[in-house]
Amino acid sequence: LANAQRAHWGSRLAFILAAAGSAIGLGNIWKFPYITGVNGGGLFVLVYLGCILLVGVPVLIAELYIGQKAQSNAVTAFERTHKPKTLWRLPGWLGLASAFFILSFYSVVGGWILYYTYLSITGQLLTPPPEEIGKTLTELFASPLTQTVCHFLFMATTVVIVMAGVKNGLERWTKILMPVLFLILVGLLVRVFFLEGFPKAISFLFSIHEGEMTAHGWMEAVGHSFFTLSLGMGAMITYGSYLSEKENLVRAAVAVAFLDTLIALMAGVVIFAIVFSFGLQPSSGPGLIFATLPVLFAQMTGGWLVATAFFLLIFFAALTSAVSLLEVVVAYWTESHGVDRHRSTVTNAVVIFILGLLSALSTNVLAEVKILGLTFFDLFDKMTSSYMLPIGGILISVFFGWTLGKQAALNAANRLGPVAVALLWITRIAAPIAVLLVLWNLVFGL
Ligand code: TRP
Repeated sequence: LANAQRAHWGSRLAFILAAAGSAIGLGNIWKFPYITGVNGGGLFVLVYLGCILLVGVPVLIAELYIGQKAQSNAVTAFERTHKPKTLWRLPGWLGLASAFFILSFYSVVGGWILYYTYLSITGQLLTPPPEEIGKTLTELFASPLTQTVCHFLFMATTVVIVMAGVKNGLERWTKILMPVLFLILVGLLVRVFFLEGFPKAISFLFSIHEGEMTAHGWMEAVGHSFFTLSLGMGAMITYGSYLSEKENLVRAAVAVAFLDTLIALMAGVVIFAIVFSFGLQPSSGPGLIFATLPVLFAQMTGGWLVATAFFLLIFFAALTSAVSLLEVVVAYWTESHGVDRHRSTVTNAVVIFILGLLSALSTNVLAEVKILGLTFFDLFDKMTSSYMLPIGGILISVFFGWTLGKQAALNAANRLGPVAVALLWITRIAAPIAVLLVLWNLVFGL
């Protein structure tokens, strides 16, 4: 059987770290703080936490189960767990498409991080006066060349890791980088504790009296809970497929969701403490971390070192996520079409790089090109997080709950009755309806 040669994670910890490595990325450190800022804080965070628990964790268990059971890539997994040529391959296809679009703009942001890492190392990031630090980003955005080169370098690094394979690539990198990322965040948290904006940051994030929920906010909360846990497009199916049958999935899913949420909240506290201490705008959008953190770093002794470490680690967090996005596509081409791993990695990466140019150039030459009122960058982001991932998530959830049904829920829950029942009814009814309501609301208004 082909399964005998199939790569597997070396240990339970390796798997948890790899899955956490996929989950923890730009979504936690770049996107979560800025969409929380845009949506006004506390109430949004609460809704987001609810989505993670009610929808995220069960769908995560479902994805891991489908992959583990099928021992195959995200498209074939639906056939192997159900029947050949099933229409249920559709969520698999949709997933591949999502991977292309997400990675295309993800890599552009990864490139910004890379650029900031470079500026930190060479000391250029912190030399301008605080009020002018934001200019660095404006200049980066204005330059098609810098954007393209950084996007290219990020994509190239991703390729190198994915090519090396599951054990020597994905596993080896996440095992080292995730713990270090955590330590750096703890260090930063200690530092911002002494800033005057710290209490305000805590109440901004955790007081439900902050902000109000708009239809758009609900949608962003649901969409982001999928995005941040890498759900809705088969990334976790693929990672689950490198898992042997013995693993306890409920425990693994809870651990991954917990780590992911912890990192997002820690990053949120760090960033908003700085925002409120230096009179910056919480709602300043995608540029938030690029404009805020350097202001703090500039005032610290050895700030360039902290800045370097910080951007380097966001870079690694982004990298381990990008790797999981590319792996979904590569696993499919190598397994289902017999394409050699190296070739399939490079070919897919080239296509994604070219698609990503639309996003890289949407802050300069293509800034005026709008589709449905959005630049390519915003379009790809909205289209995937708000529609493709939630729709993919509903389909996967329904497939697990109804098509695979009781037996799957029992197996996934390790034969624990109450957990199985909860899992079954959440994936059958609660999760799909919650997501559908949000989509409905979005499309037709309330
Ligand atoms: N979860 C990652 C983040 O928060 C991004 C990511 C990796 C992703 N793989 C994914 C998002 C699959 C959606 C689907 O940055």
